[in-house]
Amino acid sequence: MSNYQYSNMILIIGGAGYIGAHINKQLSINGYETIVFDNLSYGYESFVKWGIFEYGDLGNINDIRKIFQKYPITAVMQFAAFTYVGESIKDPQKYYINNVCNTLNLIKVMLEFNVKTLVFSSTCATYGNPMEIPITETHPQNPISPYGHGKLMVETILSDYSKAYNLKYVSLRYFNAAGADPDCEIGELHNPETHLIPLILDAAIGKRDNIKIFGTDYKTPDGTCIRDYIHVTDLADAHLKALQYLENGGESDNFNLGNGNGFSVLEVIEKSREVTGEEIVAVEEKKRQGDPPILVGSSNKARNILKWKPNYEDLQEIIVTAWNWHKKNMNLSKNMIIMAYI
Ligand code: UFG
Repeated sequence: MSNYQYSNMILIIGGAGYIGAHINKQLSINGYETIVFDNLSYGYESFVKWGIFEYGDLGNINDIRKIFQKYPITAVMQFAAFTYVGESIKDPQKYYINNVCNTLNLIKVMLEFNVKTLVFSSTCATYGNPMEIPITETHPQNPISPYGHGKLMVETILSDYSKAYNLKYVSLRYFNAAGADPDCEIGELHNPETHLIPLILDAAIGKRDNIKIFGTDYKTPDGTCIRDYIHVTDLADAHLKALQYLENGGESDNFNLGNGNGFSVLEVIEKSREVTGEEIVAVEEKKRQGDPPILVGSSNKARNILKWKPNYEDLQEIIVTAWNWHKKNMNLSKNMIIMAYI
């Protein structure tokens, strides 16, 4: 077994990605020793600014075993997943193998090494088209995409495993993660980018000509989709609290993480114009497949049980952090291009 200098380490699977990197920072600044395990298919090694980086793939069970042999791991956080809803409809196999089968590999090894504490990154996409707003954790789960189905399958597997093998887990169902680390050390960076706020900011900075509005005849006050945007640092804080909850003997459970306020696509564009001072041209497009009209969550359960509360309740503040990161990242990319020509 391990002879590592620490005796209590947290394994962050997918910790080089947008959300995982923010959790890695939050755990590290709160005194945890972390190991990031990532295959860099969508993550960036440069985002692993805290803890130890180990390259590996959940599809290769021996990669996972090596990590558990090497380090004294006491808990795991699982972020490694493909997250493009539209792609999951076109290529479900890719999603079920990566998001479900590979997570099963991870839990198999956890049980082999008697590590029974897991925080799982789930999603509001497990609810499908909401029957009532705000969505609570008891709302029926009827996903409308393979992405949502896969996440729900893992939730179900975790529930069965917890009864049979005494695995202790928390599943956190995120609404729309947004914003960036207020210190600008890490931020949102997807390739390809499909998310609303970074695309709007690309238009603000001139990297794109415009922002496309996917659907303007939804049954919402201005006809565009409404979402509940939650700051990524608030998500990170919820993961820290979920881990501490489990460490203190909390029972396995599922929690929504959102702000409880909905903003339409048009409102997000308008707020981004205010923050950036740029015109930001918006053009109407047809609806995108798999988009429910309104997704707004109640996070009262997380507030009550995890004692969690979002600090970024104002959309403007969320966009300010995203904009600061976006400008910095854009300058970094420009400098890299200039350097390449020198
Ligand atoms: N949108 C546009 N134009 C764009 C991009 C997005 O109008 O160029 C709209 C979308 O149609 C949607 C809203 O902006 O109404 C937000 O879209 P995002 O792509 O930013 O986020 P999603 O709501 O699609 O996705 C999020 C998470 C997923 C999760 C999903 C649940 O990122 O992981 O919510 O539906 F599965």
